Amino acid sequence: MGSVARHDLVVAVAEAGGLGTLSYLPPAPFKRELTRIEDRLGGRTFAANLLMPIISRTHVEACIESSVPVVTLFFGFDQRIVTSLKEAGKTVLFQVGSLKEAERVIASGADGVIVQGHEAGGHVRGSKRLADLLPQIRESFPDQLVCGAGGIHDSASADACRSLGADAVCSGTRFLASPESSAHAVYKGRLVHATETVVTNLFGVGWRDPHRVLPNNATKKWCGPGGKEPFWLPTIHKAARLASHFAGSDGGASMAMRQSLGSPLYTPVTLVEEMDAEMLELVALYAGECVKHIHDIKPAAETVRDLA
Ligand SMILES: Cc1cc2nc3c(=O)[nH]c(=O)nc-3n(C[C@H](O)[C@H](O)[C@H](O)COP(=O)(O)O)c2cc1C
Repeated sequence: MGSVARHDLVVAVAEAGGLGTLSYLPPAPFKRELTRIEDRLGGRTFAANLLMPIISRTHVEACIESSVPVVTLFFGFDQRIVTSLKEAGKTVLFQVGSLKEAERVIASGADGVIVQGHEAGGHVRGSKRLADLLPQIRESFPDQLVCGAGGIHDSASADACRSLGADAVCSGTRFLASPESSAHAVYKGRLVHATETVVTNLFGVGWRDPHRVLPNNATKKWCGPGGKEPFWLPTIHKAARLASHFAGSDGGASMAMRQSLGSPLYTPVTLVEEMDAEMLELVALYAGECVKHIHDIKPAAETVRDLA
């Protein structure tokens, strides 16, 4: 979970027996977090995520140089990266949003897939719901590791995912609402009272695909029914992308802090603890559909136990 899953969350999940996964951060903090996690976990398994459109070679090298045993990739494909991770002895998992994408990444040598359903929070890869997509991919790859993501927040939803044929479950939104996540306190507060989400391309400076987010003043002002952004926005985003170089030194946080209600130049940066609370109405508040079932801030270890 971009910027939100740092050492506290990764360690809490890993110590409880889950595969805690370090999220995207700019290169220097990403490397620092990897080292911190290694120090705190002392050999226990964890993972790091490479969000393909915004990573640099430094992220890949940091994974190769560290002891992180599992690397998850999302939203893009690069055979050289898969090969170099495999040569370094890493287990490589790809999060995918279609059967076609699963076929491609398995053919590339990946060890397994995380099938993301459209109900998932954050960056949304495909258009099918988990219950439709996962059985299709399971049938095509009976012997590969297949995990399910999207809407998994308690033991019943984890069981339902396993009954679709998943070997493991992957959960984002439930862990976002944990004391260990780096989401801002006001964002967590909004999560536990939320009843709905929207899928929109509004947060498109530096990212060209849809996100599932909580509604806030930015989405209310600029999006029509179903999260549809103004027809002219993609052109503006394209120009802004060229100007912004989203993956700059702070990962776009300084640009996010200049966002306003008057101009729809919104980055995908979410509200993390070091940002101003007042940005709540102006940034992407990622959340999955299952947010309607989440009413508390729950320690990550308890969630791991629920899901297992
Ligand atoms: C706050 C947030 C940020 C996310 N950022 C990333 C990311 O950087 N990389 C990634 O692979 N997936 C990301 N995702 C998607 C998750 O990997 C996963 O597909 C999703 O959380 C599963 O659905 P759920 O939120 O209903 O549990 C993010 C999800 C959330 C909620």
